[in-house]
Amino acid sequence: MEPVRIAFFDTKSYDKDYFDPLLKDPAFPLKIKYLNARLGPDTAALASGYEGICIFVNDRIDAAVADILYREGVKIVALRSAGYNNVNLEALRGRISVVRVPSYSPHAVAEYAVSLLLTLNRKTHKAYSRVRDGNFSLAGLEGFDLYKKTAGIIGTGQIGRITAEILRGFGMEVLASDPYPAAEWAESRGILYTGREELFRRSDIISLHCPLTPENRRLINKAALSSMKPGAIIINTGRGGLIDTKDLIDALKSNYIGGAGLDVYEEEDRYFFEDHSGQVIQDDTLARLMTFPNVLITSHQAFLTREALSAIAETTLENLRLFFEKNEVPNEIKAATPAK
Ligand code: NAI
Repeated sequence: MEPVRIAFFDTKSYDKDYFDPLLKDPAFPLKIKYLNARLGPDTAALASGYEGICIFVNDRIDAAVADILYREGVKIVALRSAGYNNVNLEALRGRISVVRVPSYSPHAVAEYAVSLLLTLNRKTHKAYSRVRDGNFSLAGLEGFDLYKKTAGIIGTGQIGRITAEILRGFGMEVLASDPYPAAEWAESRGILYTGREELFRRSDIISLHCPLTPENRRLINKAALSSMKPGAIIINTGRGGLIDTKDLIDALKSNYIGGAGLDVYEEEDRYFFEDHSGQVIQDDTLARLMTFPNVLITSHQAFLTREALSAIAETTLENLRLFFEKNEVPNEIKAATPAK
């Protein structure tokens, strides 16, 4: 059997470590071309001669890219992610199958959301730099007990539920909002579903775990922020587009919002995942956000555990094997969610 050829876009340093050891199945020969380029209108032609492509969160498939991929004979798009807001499914429908990794390690992301919260609150990132610099002062490092505070979880799918359970472990009261509440789960864990308004009003901490859809875009905007409890902390490991960043900046400037832990950012595809340390940041919104002492930004790393990376590689290769060998697509994305 001729090897199936896959163009692998936006390759990260760790990708080969997890994919290459799994490429030894003689029954399913697969040849991966690792590309540094991100998929977009200018790079889509690189898919020429490949039966499939493999993409990550900041590769974009809009209508124009979809046309090029189709023209070049691509049969399948395999996402190395769970979220798929970067893909215009409508433009691919009936022409190219799209599969994803629906679940690799919800624990990785939930644990990371909590680590952002703990760091932001107890300022361990600042203490670390201070002590290394010989500064043992505690001034300005005070945080607050999570015990008996209220957390609001937006989206109780796989990740939101685990986050909620971890926070219950701290002795927090946990409120949740989801259009499809998991009533039995909530009852058994002492978690209370409320409307979003009540959740905003009562929560000391709000953590976002819903997907980015057209309806959810900028869910956290001026109106939402002003309905929150003064001093509330926002944690976002979902997608940057869930927050209107300019409105968040206004709320931080006025000291109304107590802090933000952000693993994702609306315009992250320009900077995240790459080393730009020698350059002037041209994105003034990101630059402003980086100046706040009570904002902690990381570069979309919530998924980055050994367990998650192994599961992403295994499921992606299995998705490709099933498609090419058996014409099966168990992890196909069917819902239409246009990309921005
Ligand atoms: P999931 O599909 O299991 O759960 C999402 C939940 O959000 C569902 O229960 C859905 O009903 C709910 N939801 C949808 N719209 C809502 C709204 N307006 N308000 C409240 N709830 C709403 O997804 P999972 O696996 O828990 O992942 C959640 C999101 O986390 C993904 O869509 C992805 O964008 C993000 N993610 C981020 C990662 C990172 O590295 N930072 C890694 C993996 C996922």
